[in-house]
Amino acid sequence: MVYDLIILGGGPAGYLAGERAGAAGFKTLVIEERFLGGVCLNEGCIPSKTLLHSAKIYDYARFSEKYGVTAENVKYDHAQVIKRKNKVVKTLVGGINSKLKALKVDVANATGKILGRTSEGFQVAAGGETYTGRRLLIATGSSAIIPPIPGTKEGFEKGFVLTNREILDLKEVPESLVVIGGGVVGLEMASYFNSAGSKVTVIEMLDHIAGQTDREISSILLKNYQKKGVTFHLSSRVTEIKDDGVVFEADGKQEFVPADKVLMSVGRRPNTIGVGLETIGVELERGAVKVDAYGQTNVPGVYAAGDVNGCSMLAHTAYREAEVCVNNMLGKRDIMRYDAIPAVIYTNPEVAGVGETEESCAAKGIDYEVVNLSMRYSGRYVAENEGGDGICKVLINKVYRNVIGVHMIGNPASEIIYGAAMLIESEMRLEDIKELVFPHPTVAEIIREAIFEF
Ligand code: NAI
Repeated sequence: MVYDLIILGGGPAGYLAGERAGAAGFKTLVIEERFLGGVCLNEGCIPSKTLLHSAKIYDYARFSEKYGVTAENVKYDHAQVIKRKNKVVKTLVGGINSKLKALKVDVANATGKILGRTSEGFQVAAGGETYTGRRLLIATGSSAIIPPIPGTKEGFEKGFVLTNREILDLKEVPESLVVIGGGVVGLEMASYFNSAGSKVTVIEMLDHIAGQTDREISSILLKNYQKKGVTFHLSSRVTEIKDDGVVFEADGKQEFVPADKVLMSVGRRPNTIGVGLETIGVELERGAVKVDAYGQTNVPGVYAAGDVNGCSMLAHTAYREAEVCVNNMLGKRDIMRYDAIPAVIYTNPEVAGVGETEESCAAKGIDYEVVNLSMRYSGRYVAENEGGDGICKVLINKVYRNVIGVHMIGNPASEIIYGAAMLIESEMRLEDIKELVFPHPTVAEIIREAIFEF
């Protein structure tokens, strides 16, 4: 049998492409070596959010005197939290399995490797079988970068150094945790383990945390976590991992932080090795599969979506990229756009942003205007965030008077930001946005409030 589409990888890009292709009547095969749902569902987005939710409940229970609530004998059961996390993951993975089955999409639980091409199509080996597909979707995802810092390999072997994969299954909360890299993974895990009781230290190479996040917002986030007891060493370079801690250099001086566990969260790289891409001549660029705006590689009929194309490395981007790829395979022209993709950091307070930042506008030479409002302009925010220091920044293009960026820190920013993405994606002008009615009282009203400041 010749498949219409063979998908390598069953993460957000792969399984969603499978669903869309199956629903459109393509005979589709998804090949996944570990678990459907990929990193996001099994060892990333969903498990971390499950853990962070438990931590938030624990924090509410302990620190709510200011809301008129006190609780005694509040206990945290990390083992139960992990057990629940596994249940959540199992339920969702089961859901994907059922959906693919219902859409008559085949799933092979094995490592897939492209062998080459015949007149019938692309040949892919998996689990001792050879499959043939008229089209291929490369959706093999990414893996944590393991830098060549002395002691890292030994640390991993001993279970002392962990990535996002192992840390989500720790049996016990370590007394002390050193996080290398103050990006998204590092900050979310620092947040969880700080609430769960670890003494957390974050070592970051740059002079700020949270990467591309608006600088003012990243510094508010930093202050919030310093207040919660997390120690940060910025502009610091890790030089060695010892048996009992981490050595780093800052300001030309060597320092040492003791640790019971170390999290390595210095970024991810696309999984392109061992996939057999070279057998059909798929071109790479800076270690990622190079794609055009339709998601197609340089080889006609071979597409790539998700982290493996290195474009944005977010699960929600992967969903949309997968749809773009499948639509183009089906002959429906569809283009991937990257300028309205929200980014969220699920710390407490949450950080969310979409579109241009002041820093990116300056770099691109965009003539912009910005309004920066305290989240306290929202009644609902004040009611629910005692002492909150959140802000919301809205950026407009000075020439066209349309919104080009929205960035906020404050709960529940993660649930609001899609609205801002819609304003940007639909290129709405300020005058049109002013006619929109927002529900009151909601924290989202902060966006409407900011728009009226222009
Ligand atoms: P990241 O790129 O977000 O952050 C890595 C950080 O490590 C950077 O700030 C970098 O300056 C720092 N760094 C690099 N080498 C270092 C060194 N030797 N010593 C100290 N610091 C060093 O990568 P992260 O956090 O590993 O996340 C990986 C990917 O997963 C990202 O692409 C992210 O988009 C995605 N992700 C998204 C989440 C979300 O949307 N909420 C949550 C978790 C991950």
